[in-house]
Amino acid sequence: MRGGKRWFIVALALLAGLDLLEGEKIDSRYATNRNCEACHTDISKQWQTSRHAHSHFTKNDLYDKTLDYIVAHEMTKTKEEIVVECAKCHNPRIEKRSINSADKLGLLLDIDKQSVDRMLKTPTMKNGINCIVCHNVDKIHLDKEGGKRGFDVVEFGPQGTMFGPFEGAVSPYHKTQKREFFVNNPNRLCFVCHYSDTNDFGVEVYSTGKEYETAKAEHPNAPQCIECHMSGKKKGIASNFGGEGGRVKRLVRDHLFASIDNSKIYEKYLKISAERQKDQLTVSIESQVPHKVPTGYGLRDLEIRVAFFGKDGKQISEQRKLYTAHWIDAEGEETIPHLARKKGPDSRLAPYASVAETFTIPKGTHLINYKVIYRQIDPKMDRRLGVRDPFFSNEYVLKNGVIEF
Ligand code: HEC
Ligand code: HEC
Ligand code: HEC
Ligand code: HEC
Ligand code: HEC
Repeated sequence: MRGGKRWFIVALALLAGLDLLEGEKIDSRYATNRNCEACHTDISKQWQTSRHAHSHFTKNDLYDKTLDYIVAHEMTKTKEEIVVECAKCHNPRIEKRSINSADKLGLLLDIDKQSVDRMLKTPTMKNGINCIVCHNVDKIHLDKEGGKRGFDVVEFGPQGTMFGPFEGAVSPYHKTQKREFFVNNPNRLCFVCHYSDTNDFGVEVYSTGKEYETAKAEHPNAPQCIECHMSGKKKGIASNFGGEGGRVKRLVRDHLFASIDNSKIYEKYLKISAERQKDQLTVSIESQVPHKVPTGYGLRDLEIRVAFFGKDGKQISEQRKLYTAHWIDAEGEETIPHLARKKGPDSRLAPYASVAETFTIPKGTHLINYKVIYRQIDPKMDRRLGVRDPFFSNEYVLKNGVIEF
């Protein structure tokens, strides 16, 4: 951090008297999925492939670079402070829920940096949105309009009690208790973090749950989040443990929290087709998804890309259509969602939308290659943030079709 900025923040820290809210230290017996894996092997392996397992900045280059980008652009905040704010949803088992002015001074003067650093990198925090984030939730108090989110709207139970969908399940390792929301209204659990949220400037940067509820009003049969992102209920076992209480035959779901990178979820719910009529090509996408596509993090994009080739095999031209959102800073330039002063155009597919894009086929075309591509982040912003992990620049080709004539 440059000297000027540092002293500016020191002065602010001296002025501010922030509340100190404690989370709690997590017993090492329950800290990570490793503690559960011996008995819940299948579940743990599935969860590990999910983005929930990558929600800590040490496991997610895009998130880490985003934090650096915010620090570089917001005069008043340190990285540690921003991590604590974002931890509400990204790492809710954090030990301290805010950085007070004494902590902040310590950080800026390089006293006590180690203890704050340790607090932000406990095994349980690095483990992301793990088993005890969801299964130690005793009560949920959603605050949809008020704006409280993540750890501010859940009450965790005693450590060592695992809440779940079953009545009277027996485990040698932990207590169990049924919680109704797992059975009758699991959307409530997802809404703790996926409902909506605004940035420091009041701009709404996430709205998956809101989109879903609006769609549900018109499509009362819209499935629950877990029907698509976990799986339908199927015969199986909840625990692979061989002893007492284990291997009971149950109706269970996968723990994939399926997304574009660990499943074929889009194949089921996005129908893509193309049709040629004279000199026109129409590419259609029919969404059966009850939220926008893409939804969630505001820099994802979906693209239709059509390339036209002549008899000689040479490309004549290429046309593209993008479905994405734009975020505008105080200077009117494009920025990341968390720093936006206002939202720009948003062409993401509405819930249950059907779109048909028509492209004019240039003269001399012999072959058309049309693709529908999904990206975790718009390539321009990817470069600006300096994201290195190729995971984020990968193009997921949802459809790759050829029409020859
Ligand atoms: C994002 C929240 C979330 C996380 C993280 C999560 N679960 Fe679950 N889990 C659920 C939901 C929701 C259900 C209820 C599924 C159903 O209806 O069967 C469930 C069900 C279960 C069940 C009962 C069996 C079943 O499929 O219904 C077990 C056991 C379980 N989870 C263990 C784990 C373990 C172990 C981990 C960590 C590796 C984990 N869960 C991570 C949300 C979560
Ligand atoms: C020594 C084996 C063992 C370990 C370790 C273990 N469990 Fe379990 N767990 C079980 C058994 C057995 C059941 C009961 C399964 C059944 O009834 O089908 C169970 C049930 C559950 C349930 C369902 C509770 C309900 O009432 O619906 C959850 C959730 C759960 N475990 C989470 C965890 C988590 C999280 C961890 C790691 C912190 C963990 N378990 C570690 C054996 C274990
Ligand atoms: C404690 C907050 C929290 C809860 C509760 C939660 N999530 Fe998440 N979820 C997140 C965060 C944060 C991410 C992004 C992690 C990352 O990419 O670093 C995420 C990512 C996801 C993704 C992957 C998105 C992608 O872009 O690939 C899916 C799917 C998902 N969650 C579904 C669910 C479902 C279904 C539930 C309810 C059973 C749920 N989540 C509960 C916070 C939460
Ligand atoms: C009918 C199936 C279906 C239901 C129900 C559903 N989704 Fe999705 N979801 C999808 C598909 C398909 C995708 C992949 C397309 C995409 O990434 O936008 C997706 C993508 C996502 C993503 C990743 C978003 C992205 O593109 O970055 C998140 C997060 C998510 N869903 C959360 C939820 C939550 C929370 C709910 C419940 C309120 C929910 N979904 C309900 C099908 C569904
Ligand atoms: C209200 C809960 C919530 C808060 C608070 C929150 N996030 Fe998120 N964040 C999410 C969810 C849910 C997702 C996953 C959505 C998706 O995949 O589309 C996500 C995804 C992301 C992603 C994309 C990660 C990936 O793997 O692609 C980044 C980057 C991110 N958040 C940054 C931040 C930053 C920085 C902050 C704090 C300034 C923050 N978030 C605060 C809920 C939250």
